[in-house]
Amino acid sequence: MAPEVLQRGARVYGLYCVSCHGADGSGRANASRSLDRPPRDFREAAFEHVSGPQGSLPTDADLDLVIRRGIPGTGMPPWDGMPDEDRHAVIQFLKTFSARWSSEVPAGGEASPT
Ligand code: HEC
Repeated sequence: MAPEVLQRGARVYGLYCVSCHGADGSGRANASRSLDRPPRDFREAAFEHVSGPQGSLPTDADLDLVIRRGIPGTGMPPWDGMPDEDRHAVIQFLKTFSARWSSEVPAGGEASPT
């Protein structure tokens, strides 16, 4: 992944996501303490919204959808107003939290937009 994209993703994450998901991706940041359901640990890359088999990595399209829609009933807000380029960049940045992304391929049904 191009370093500019990851830099942009890190900036977007630092602005909008770090308060809950934490600088280390653990989901144990300050704002998450008041949530009934704390954010999952991105370091484990165990995602719920995957188009492939349970336990597989999400595709970029899967992540894009869940980030745009948010997760109703949890503290995860919808980010549908975020520019596509920022969403794309933050998705690439999320993948730096776990080594699973370099050893496994998302098994989703749809082609990844990247
Ligand atoms: C106000 C707190 C909060 C903020 C801010 C926030 N999230 Fe979340 N996020 C959550 C919670 C709570 C969940 C749901 C718990 C879980 O399953 O991880 C979640 C879940 C997720 C998931 C997991 C989806 C899945 O399929 O398992 C992703 C990806 C995600 N957030 C990305 C982001 C990104 C990217 C940003 C910044 C643009 C962001 N979040 C900002 C609280 C937050």
